Amino acid sequence: MIIAQLSDLHCTVPGERAVKRYDTNAALARAVERVNGLRPRPDLVVVTGDIGNGPKPGEYGPAAELLGRLEIPFLPLPGNHDDRQGLREAFGHLGLFPAEGEFLHYEHRVGGLRILALDTVIPMDVPGRLCDARLSWVEARLREDSGPTLVIMHHPPFLVGSGVMDPIRCQGGEAFEMLLRQHGNIAGVLCGHVHRGIAVPFAGTLGFCAPSTGMLLAFDPTPGAPPVWTDDPPGFALHVWEPGVPLRSHVLTV
Ligand SMILES: [Fe+2]
Ligand SMILES: [Fe+2]
Repeated sequence: MIIAQLSDLHCTVPGERAVKRYDTNAALARAVERVNGLRPRPDLVVVTGDIGNGPKPGEYGPAAELLGRLEIPFLPLPGNHDDRQGLREAFGHLGLFPAEGEFLHYEHRVGGLRILALDTVIPMDVPGRLCDARLSWVEARLREDSGPTLVIMHHPPFLVGSGVMDPIRCQGGEAFEMLLRQHGNIAGVLCGHVHRGIAVPFAGTLGFCAPSTGMLLAFDPTPGAPPVWTDDPPGFALHVWEPGVPLRSHVLTV
């Protein structure tokens, strides 16, 4: 099975540019076209958060239209630049989000693989969190099914070696790691947020961050480094999954 991962789309209100520089909507259109043109075609697309750039009213119209061009089913989840209610309105018709409750976490099954989509958002804040309520939800899912499971979430629960992004990773990552280690069935933990393609061993499996489809941060592991946006080419990831085989992850530029 092939899973494409689009992340940090940062879709804007038409005519605006992200950080006054990047036409992220046009970049997403190119990424979607590239994914649709892949042969073999991916079986699924996961969209790991920061679908909007604000959050700001008017961003999810373009996001839904551009993601709607995918000829492959896709799974959205929230990042720190997203608004849960806005995501419900734009993507509720996919039937993935829970009908009730605060968090937009859910479970999805495709071809022998179970995917757990997590919501790491702290409203109006930049870092993420897996609080006790969210960890309990993950624990319950892992307890009721020991089949192969891929976790997708926005904020990485591990250090990636980025001076600007490490302080705003997912809080609660240590408890989450212990929980995953108790189960031997995690195929990988796919994240976004850091706007670079980065792989890290985590909880006995692969911790992975996909690059943004529209805007990349400079590589700088210096603690306290400021965010520097670059002209590095944006892109997305492709993950190849088979039962009993480690996940193989490729990064493509667009
Ligand atoms: Fe982002
Ligand atoms: Fe983010």
